[in-house]
Amino acid sequence: MNDEHVAAHWEANAPAWTALARAGYDVWRDVVNTPAFLELLPPVNGLAGIDIGCGEGANTRTIARLGARMTGIDISPTFIAHATAEEQREPLGITYLVAPAQGLPFRDGQFAFATAFMSLMDVADYRGALQEAQRVIAPGGFLQFSIIHPCFFPPDRRLTVDADGRVTAVTLSRYFERAEFIEEWTFTAAPEAERSRYPPFRVPVFHRTLADCLNGVLDTGFRIERIAEPSPSDEQIREHPRLQTMRVTATLLHVLCRKP
Ligand SMILES: C[S@@+](CC[C@H](N)C(=O)[O-])C[C@H]1O[C@@H](n2cnc3c(N)ncnc32)[C@H](O)[C@@H]1O
Repeated sequence: MNDEHVAAHWEANAPAWTALARAGYDVWRDVVNTPAFLELLPPVNGLAGIDIGCGEGANTRTIARLGARMTGIDISPTFIAHATAEEQREPLGITYLVAPAQGLPFRDGQFAFATAFMSLMDVADYRGALQEAQRVIAPGGFLQFSIIHPCFFPPDRRLTVDADGRVTAVTLSRYFERAEFIEEWTFTAAPEAERSRYPPFRVPVFHRTLADCLNGVLDTGFRIERIAEPSPSDEQIREHPRLQTMRVTATLLHVLCRKP
């Protein structure tokens, strides 16, 4: 799969993704992922930042509300149209642009930092995207990104579920196969009536090992400062029982790295 295939799939996913995420059904993102990302994030107040693979812009807006001057880019025009419409409705000073992560239309060192929420894992040219992020960040600036945890989502992944529907174990294999495939799913928190209004998402997956992911960062010249593997608290699981799966294995990997 190349980035054209990726772009076509995300463009097709964008209307349903925007509607369901904005209705609050991206519970992984809103309850676990973004709060943990913000805990790790260095101060951004007053800095120019770029959000790579911004989607409909929810996280770009969150970073802008922390005082950063944000630019959001995404490969899907429909996502960018939704993000731009929201900016017009409630201006936060964000500029949105359709652009590929592996070919950013910005000057060297134009930004003090970059964020990429759950997008670098979806880019066909992962190393190209990291090189571009490194290029547009000024020396001393940082990149912080989240991806699906590469150790726990290989091409073969099966859940063991008990009589109460709780996931008790995850069986994994084919970890070293750099498989590329399309995964069909939707936000399970959405009630059936909402879900059935849209086709399921068809998401291009590029399985990379942990070494592939982290060596990509190091080979680009970044220094890794911190890594996190967020998981929900007991209280969050009580409120959203489906999040219990996120405590059986790690689900997310966060990386904070800096350009020397
Ligand atoms: C899982 S969504 C995450 C969206 C958003 N960051 C969020 O947290 O809600 C992945 C995003 O990456 C974008 N994407 C995939 N490949 C890309 C590429 N080569 N260049 C730019 N964006 C890309 C998709 O269009 C999609 O919006």
